[in-house]
Amino acid sequence: MADSNPNGAFDVIIIGGGPGGYVAAIRAAQLGFKTARVDMRETLGGTCLNVGCIPSKALLQSSHLFDEAGHGLEAHGVSVGAPKLDLKAMLGRKNSVVADLTKGIAFLFKKNKITHIVGAGVISAVGQVSVGKDTYSAKHIIIATGSEPAPLPGVEVDEKQIVTSTGALDLTSVPKSMVVIGGGVIGLELGSVWRRLGAEVTVVEFLPNILPGMDGEVVKQATRTLKKQGLKFKLGTKVTGAKKTKTGVSLSVEPAAGGDVETINADVVLVSIGRRPFTDKLGLDKIGVETDRGFVKIDAHFKTNVDGIYAIGDVVGGAMLAHKAEEEGIACVEILAGQAGHVNYGAIPGVVYTHPEIAALGKTEEDLKAAGVDYTVGKFPFIANSRARAVGDTEGFVKILADAKTDRVLGAHIIGPGAGELIQEVVLAMEFGGSSEDIARTSHAHPGTSEAVKEAALACLGRAIYV
Ligand code: FAD
Ligand code: NAI
Repeated sequence: MADSNPNGAFDVIIIGGGPGGYVAAIRAAQLGFKTARVDMRETLGGTCLNVGCIPSKALLQSSHLFDEAGHGLEAHGVSVGAPKLDLKAMLGRKNSVVADLTKGIAFLFKKNKITHIVGAGVISAVGQVSVGKDTYSAKHIIIATGSEPAPLPGVEVDEKQIVTSTGALDLTSVPKSMVVIGGGVIGLELGSVWRRLGAEVTVVEFLPNILPGMDGEVVKQATRTLKKQGLKFKLGTKVTGAKKTKTGVSLSVEPAAGGDVETINADVVLVSIGRRPFTDKLGLDKIGVETDRGFVKIDAHFKTNVDGIYAIGDVVGGAMLAHKAEEEGIACVEILAGQAGHVNYGAIPGVVYTHPEIAALGKTEEDLKAAGVDYTVGKFPFIANSRARAVGDTEGFVKILADAKTDRVLGAHIIGPGAGELIQEVVLAMEFGGSSEDIARTSHAHPGTSEAVKEAALACLGRAIYV
């Protein structure tokens, strides 16, 4: 339990109010800690709510509806004529979704009696956080300062013509052409948004494939599908510089392995080559908190090398995902309260919210091969799933990987309708150490796309019914 705090100082101060920090603050308050949270932003929710997960998903949904209205309805016998885009309204809706959700967090803070301090937090001494002229003391300090877009040398961001994800969420007109540097999650999600709204989008990716680290078969299918949607890919290519011109941006690109330099022109360039930890304003050097390539170093209990200082979320590295930050925030404060907080890093899903969605969990087939693990693989295509057929969304498949001897599920990879929700039952199975047979013998409502998960699990056992 938390200490009683007669001096009005805090038990826990959390610096950073993203999904790691705000969830940690709420859990800390639930556990009886006197809790404060410091953030430079006026609004709560960090990167995720303000300029990340939520606004991007709002635009993905709106642009998907626009695209469907233009191309997807005739087959259903619905004719509406060419849809008209009201970009201002679309961005306005996105902003109000963000505003509502950030206000929701403010309400939760009030309800849980969490002190909300706005300003840049500096760890001025062990047990002390300064914000402007004020200094607050706390028994425990948690660093949850997240991440920021990684810069690309030679490409200067102005958030208008050369943008990061933040600028790409707020373009005031649809560019005729857009070059996306980096074929990772942000590049494909935001590239999809502007492609659907009418931009010619070219993704320049340094590696030979998009979505590095994902299952090879999924990457192949995703590349094929996104190409069909009009995205162009320049793979194995690096951008070496960008110059702003009167009409747009002129980019120099060359093969990653070296070769002739080529020029590509675009109205807007999105730089999405990864994110880096954000610790700029914390004063870590002064108090001796160790970092590794900018990431705050922690032990298995989220503790830094300095007593009383902990860190969670994007700033500690690993998967830069909101739900991973949340799990760490909860585990960290539970440990501070003497409980057994724990994060199962092997069962954290990752979802790319393109259409169709792409979901990844646990080991890929490539991982298992490299580790010499004997595995079974079960695959089921959505084209053979009755619900996907009825809805008219049949691209993709479910792939489950299980241990050949024990049948324990080791990974799952889904590209298809609602993949981000479908993966969740496999996450639960993995969390419980479940087998493909556990999934296969679980009743799945018919007709449902989740039956494709059941069929893939049956396929691991060599007995799928529908293929
Ligand atoms: P953050 O959310 O980055 O929050 C850190 C906060 O700390 C910020 O508000 C910052 O202002 C504040 N801060 C920093 N330094 C200080 C200081 N010294 N004093 C005070 N405050 C400070 N993840 C998903 O899981 N799903 C998605 O769909 C998804 N979509 C994304 C889309 C985009 C465009 C982007 C950019 C990211 C997306 N992410 C997504 C990643 C997700 O946003 C991050 O993994 C998540 O926000 C990390 O949470 P965090 O709490 O560690 O840090
Ligand atoms: P990323 O790491 O997903 O992808 C970056 C891509 O850029 C990689 O494919 C990399 O090979 C490529 N690249 C790097 N340098 C390059 C260069 N010089 N030229 C061309 N390509 C280059 O990073 P991204 O997309 O910026 O996203 C950052 C983080 O945000 C990710 O870690 C992700 O987890 C998180 N995020 C999560 C989302 C989700 O969960 N749906 C959505 C958006 C972001």
